[in-house]
Amino acid sequence: MMKPTLAFDVYGTLIDTHGLVSRLRETAGEKAEEFSRIWRQKQLEYSFRRGLMQNYESFAVCTRNALDYACAYCRVPLIGVQKEELLDSYRKLPAFGDVEEGLKTLNASGFRIYAFSNGSAEAVEKLLAASGIRELFLDVVSVEELQSFKPDPAVYYHFLERSGTTGGNAWLISCNPFDVIGAISAGMRAVWVRRSPEAIFDPWGFEPTLTVSSLAELEEHISAWMLNGG
Ligand code: LAC
Repeated sequence: MMKPTLAFDVYGTLIDTHGLVSRLRETAGEKAEEFSRIWRQKQLEYSFRRGLMQNYESFAVCTRNALDYACAYCRVPLIGVQKEELLDSYRKLPAFGDVEEGLKTLNASGFRIYAFSNGSAEAVEKLLAASGIRELFLDVVSVEELQSFKPDPAVYYHFLERSGTTGGNAWLISCNPFDVIGAISAGMRAVWVRRSPEAIFDPWGFEPTLTVSSLAELEEHISAWMLNGG
């Protein structure tokens, strides 16, 4: 049987969306962690709402608008140039420490690996290149090709079409529970990467096909699952 196709979520799974917290301390002081959390939460909320409203703007626009919201919410009055610097750093956010090795092991074992993101193809290409991991992916599939956002089922179907695979042989790999539920609901398999024991899975009655605590476990767990016939 052909090895499964893996669709890696990017922001929050491969790339640490809270990687700017120490940078934020310079301007937001003790509010840096809350600022980072609100920024991310609003970025996702804005993408969900734009998807529902069928009013597509790129993920970068959601990120920019969410930054303005976080400044207002946390009462951190950044000036234009400070916001531009933060947005520029966001385009080069760091990868998590387990990513490179985990992907190399999966590649060596013959899995077909894609990046699949709400981010534009150009933004994701640059992000992966900045972390030195772009060559570990066959391709980047972006929701911008459909002008919608996860978890619209159409974007998961689009991934299947682009990668020439079917739901039963395609796995979404994500730290984001909404993404895991979206993929399973669209007929894919999905792994929830739970790097922190504090992370909570949405209690919707959906279960991830597998849960791992780091990408280092992924190859072994999916292979064992397949050996056991699913
Ligand atoms: C992504 C968002 C979900 O990369 O973080 O698709």
